[in-house]
Amino acid sequence: MVQRTLSIIKPDAVRKNAVGAIIKCFEDAGLRIAAMKMLHLSNEEAGRFYIVHRERPFYKDLAAFMSEGPIVVLVLEGEDAIARLRKTMGATNPKDAAPGTIRAMFAENIERNAVHGSDSEASAGYEIPFFFPAIEMH
Ligand code: CMP
Repeated sequence: MVQRTLSIIKPDAVRKNAVGAIIKCFEDAGLRIAAMKMLHLSNEEAGRFYIVHRERPFYKDLAAFMSEGPIVVLVLEGEDAIARLRKTMGATNPKDAAPGTIRAMFAENIERNAVHGSDSEASAGYEIPFFFPAIEMH
């Protein structure tokens, strides 16, 4: 099934100049860029994006991290795009990420983990319109 999913190249990866390398991983995995932009979230916006995690102990830190510098957000499209992107990213904790995955190559730790990808169709349904109106998707 052709799906769309939302990815974020996080502030740690943007700072280390890994945007191009990470986008190449997406394209090499068969994901097509349907939308893309760079922006710098406020702490409040980052908290709203990750609202499902509001009860977690790492929530405040996560909002601070995600607003510390610019990010690149993308809508990626392809066959089983949600699972395909998550496989390409590797496990949340880079210690558990398979060799060759984006997090194995670029993540620093479980929080500063280089990339985000929607974890379900329901999440993609919240996350894509959070950043992109239909007119910006191609
Ligand atoms: P992401 O896939 O964007 O989804 C939620 C984010 O919270 C996750 O990547 C990490 O950046 C962060 N995160 C998840 N678990 C932890 C944890 N145990 N400690 C700190 N940050 C976490």
